[in-house]
Amino acid sequence: MSDQSTPVGAEHFRYIAAHTAGDDLFLADLKRAATAGGIPGIWVAPEQASLMQILLRLCRAREVVEVGTLAGYSAIAMARALPEGGRVRTIELDPQRADFAERWIARSDVAGRIEVMRGPAAEVLPRLDADSADAAFLDADKAGYPLYLAECLRIVRRGGLVLVDNAFAFGQLFDEHPTDREVAPMREFNERMPRETALQSVIVPLGDGLWVGVKR
Ligand SMILES: C[S@@+](CC[C@H](N)C(=O)[O-])C[C@H]1O[C@@H](n2cnc3c(N)ncnc32)[C@H](O)[C@@H]1O
Repeated sequence: MSDQSTPVGAEHFRYIAAHTAGDDLFLADLKRAATAGGIPGIWVAPEQASLMQILLRLCRAREVVEVGTLAGYSAIAMARALPEGGRVRTIELDPQRADFAERWIARSDVAGRIEVMRGPAAEVLPRLDADSADAAFLDADKAGYPLYLAECLRIVRRGGLVLVDNAFAFGQLFDEHPTDREVAPMREFNERMPRETALQSVIVPLGDGLWVGVKR
C-alpha cells in the first residue's frame, strides 16, 4: 500500500454501492429471470457497470467489443452509455446464454445497439477488423485472456479503452490454496498487465477488481 492510500474494507464497498445508482427495474428483472433459468449471477457489480459507463462516455466510445455475454447485463449497461448509432458486439460461447441474452436485449431500450456473436472468443475475435472499436471488455475464461488481450489491442483504436474483469480472482487472489482453477491464470495475467507496453493500466478495486487500461 502506498502512503497515500486509505485502508478500505467491506464497509467502504457497501458505502460505495449505497451511493451508486443501482439497477433499474428492467435489469433487476433480467437478473431474476436469469437466476430462475439457471444462469449463475456472475455479472459485474452495478457500481462497476457505472464506472464502465462513465469511462465509455469519457472516451466517446461508439463501438465496443465484449468477451463474455452471460445474460446480457453488462452489454446492456455499456450500450446505454453509447450515442445513437453506437454498437456493442458481445461474444458468448454458451448457446443457451446467448439465446437468453438475445431475448432480453430485444426487449431492452438498447435493442438495436447490441449484436451477440456466438462461439469461442478465440475464433470470433480474429474476424473483427483492426481499429474497429473504441473499447473492449474482457470477462470470460481467464486462460484465454492473453490471447483476447492481444486481439483487443489489434481491434481497439489508439487512445481506446481496454477493461478486464476479475483482477481479484473471485476473492481468492491471496489464497494459499485457491479452489477455483481460474485463479492461477488470472494471477499470471495480472503479472503481465504492467509489462504490456501498448497499455497504460491500473486495477480499480470495484466488484472483483477491474483492470482499466488505455491503448497508447
Ligand atoms: C462472467 S460471465 C460474463 C458476465 C457479463 N460480462 C456480465 O457482467 O453481465 C463469463 C461468460 O463468458 C462465457 N465464456 C467462457 N468462455 C468463453 C469463450 N472461450 N468464448 C466466449 N465466451 C466464453 C461464459 O459462458 C460466460 O457466460
